Amino acid sequence: MKEQLAKIRAEAISALESAKDAADLDALRVKYLGKKGELTGVLKMMGRLSPEERPVMGQLANDVRAALENALEACSQKLEAAALERRLRDEALDVTIPGKPVVLGHQHPMNIALEELKDIFIGMGFTVLEGPEVELASYNFDRLNAPEGHPSRDWSDTFYFDGDSRVMLRSQTSPMQVRAMETMDLPIRIIAPGRVYRKDEVDATHSPMFHQVEGMVIDKGVTMADLKGTLNTVVEQLYGAGAKTRFRPHHFPFTEPSCEMDVQCHKCGGAGCPTCKGEGWIELLGAGMVHPKVLEMSGIDSGTYTGWAFGIGLERMAMRRFKIADLRLIFENDVRFLEQF
Ligand code: DAH
Repeated sequence: MKEQLAKIRAEAISALESAKDAADLDALRVKYLGKKGELTGVLKMMGRLSPEERPVMGQLANDVRAALENALEACSQKLEAAALERRLRDEALDVTIPGKPVVLGHQHPMNIALEELKDIFIGMGFTVLEGPEVELASYNFDRLNAPEGHPSRDWSDTFYFDGDSRVMLRSQTSPMQVRAMETMDLPIRIIAPGRVYRKDEVDATHSPMFHQVEGMVIDKGVTMADLKGTLNTVVEQLYGAGAKTRFRPHHFPFTEPSCEMDVQCHKCGGAGCPTCKGEGWIELLGAGMVHPKVLEMSGIDSGTYTGWAFGIGLERMAMRRFKIADLRLIFENDVRFLEQF
């Protein structure tokens, strides 16, 4: 029996040495110390011993049990420490590995050009206004001298919200002229950039939405010469000295006289090319002297005050600013294009 106990002890200790995890330890615990385990099996035979031998063997068996329990405990601690060590190693962070670069976006070229334009006008004492894209037809048309029946009010051109054509997506930023006259004290110097909407926009883009920048000055003694001088200065500041403009007579219901301003094509220098559709010039804006009727409808005495106004096509302006060959590029938002600005 003594030998049996010694054998159990030796076997168990050596088995423990190859235990790899908690499950192995549990199995060994059951195998040697469990109710049906080997040590218990030996103890069950104690009855066969003589009364003198029994306490000696009992003591010996207890020693073996204690030794095995200690060994199991030690082994369990060793395995836990090793597992922790492994986890720390596997989950270690190398703070010296270079990070993934964050791709930063930036402003659209049209917004860059708009910011430059705003800076120029603010430098000249203009206030920048913003107004609603959902507009009343009375602001978009009536009070700009385009009464019922005017061709620009046609359903085929305009996005109306109601059956009686009173609420609409603004087709131009010009209603901001009326809103400024209604809310501001004279003299007035404003620009008002924003989106405008048309069903039939016969443009290279066929986009039902594009951008304009409205501008208006009302003061005593303001003339067409001031309009031309101001716009020429703006063009030079935006496009650099030597950028040529030309003014052509035109018609708008809310200005009299009216004109359009072109800037010389940056691609061909005026000779004519695909960018300017062979014209040598690129149309940039409509302008004119504010019609006396428009002043009067907003309660301004047209005998004392005069004014001028303009509406810039922002896409075209940005196109010329960054020497972009095709207007469609501004709308497509291809990142390979946008990254260049
Ligand atoms: N609103 C006009 C358009 O969309 C542009 C325009 C022309 C604006 C003359 C003006 C102006 O302020 O005076 O075609």
